Amino acid sequence: MKMWAGRFQQSLNPEFENWQRSFAFDRRLLAHELAASRAHAKALESAGILDPGELKAVLRGLDQIGRQAAASAEFGKDSEAEDVHHFVESQLVVLIGETGFKLHSGRSRNEQIAADLRLYVRAAIDQVRSELAQLCDVFLERAERSGTSAMPAYTHLQCAEPVLVAHWLLAYVEMFLRDTERLAEVHKRTNLSPLGSGAVAGATLALERDAMAADLDCQGITANSIDATSDRDFVVEFSNALALVALHLSRWAEEMILFSSVEFGFVRSPEAYSTGSSAMPQKKNPDLAELARAKSARVIGQVTALLATLKGLPLAYHKDLQETQEPLFAAFETVQALIPLVRGWMQEAEFDYPRMQERAQSGFMNAWAAATYLVKRGLPSRLAHEVIGRAVQLCLQTNRELRELTLDELRRLSPLFDQDFYACLGLDAVLALHDVPGGTAPVRVRQALRQAREKVDLLRENVHAHA
Ligand code: ARG
Repeated sequence: MKMWAGRFQQSLNPEFENWQRSFAFDRRLLAHELAASRAHAKALESAGILDPGELKAVLRGLDQIGRQAAASAEFGKDSEAEDVHHFVESQLVVLIGETGFKLHSGRSRNEQIAADLRLYVRAAIDQVRSELAQLCDVFLERAERSGTSAMPAYTHLQCAEPVLVAHWLLAYVEMFLRDTERLAEVHKRTNLSPLGSGAVAGATLALERDAMAADLDCQGITANSIDATSDRDFVVEFSNALALVALHLSRWAEEMILFSSVEFGFVRSPEAYSTGSSAMPQKKNPDLAELARAKSARVIGQVTALLATLKGLPLAYHKDLQETQEPLFAAFETVQALIPLVRGWMQEAEFDYPRMQERAQSGFMNAWAAATYLVKRGLPSRLAHEVIGRAVQLCLQTNRELRELTLDELRRLSPLFDQDFYACLGLDAVLALHDVPGGTAPVRVRQALRQAREKVDLLRENVHAHA
């Protein structure tokens, strides 16, 4: 039985009917729909609409639906229900008879879908944060194991300065930690109960909204029924946070693709996560990284779809809002599938530390350190830059590195050069020079590793406390 058939004389066009249904995708919300319905049923009893016996029957029915759903992923798959709300109502009536129809008293699907989506996003946030914590662990372990190995850091994809491999890996840990913080922020605004908001103007029964919110373990209730039934900001915010996770992973992916090429040769992509070529027998292609790079496009696309759907929508509920579900699910499922794969890749990939180290010591990556030598001897920075620039030019013309210039040659460029200049050109000296918090001097990186470890441990505890 339809939830709204009374007013209609004709039946729906079958194609339209099928096309407007959302159950094929909002089945995902079943557990949340049941939780929200339990809370509503209890409020109905408090309001005197259900008697204690009826409440018991309703709760028993809802639990049974939950058990059936837990027992089989196929449960309800062939149902003709319009959406998850309709499905639960129909099932309930099958299980407990007409009392099941009482559950809808005083409520509207508009508040139900708002509640279900909030509960879905809340749970999804916990899951992504947990995945990110594990991902951070893997990056941290690699960073800890890489010791004092160095590599080139790039700007404009041109060799810039040497950094510790650990420093580079910690850059990703920062991005992922920021993602978890962002998600925690979204969690705060999501974790409010819209139950009792009705269709647009508030429930038509005096329902205890705070009690329903407490029942759902929400932080509080939404303040305005018009907003609560039409707000999908939390969906956009969450998807946007996911887009940033995906974007960070795409930057990682791009680096892995580059670094696993023969030209860089820093990383060997694990065979378990690569594929070959049907034509070229020698190939091992970094498919995981390539797909990760591309998947981010989808997530960004889902955010765009959400924003475009909501833009210009008058208050309050419109069926347009049903179209916010699939982008949300797709964004979450894409990211949730991706993170463990990236983690596996990072666990198994081999780093060629000697090669990275060697590349960190050539190509004038000590030039700024060389200029700093002159600055410390009192030469204004701009002039020191100029002197070393000319030294580099001389090297380029004669195919040498800075350390291969003679003291005479150097002194022709500036009288400030001394024998001790050569000591500041070595890799260790260049690394040690960046001795500021957040810099790549080994003492600072050790400190940063400890701090990141603390943050990740704390995050893991928080995530578990929630789950
Ligand atoms: N399936 C609908 C959605 O996702 C549920 C709300 C339906 N409300 C309505 N007034 N038709 O938005």
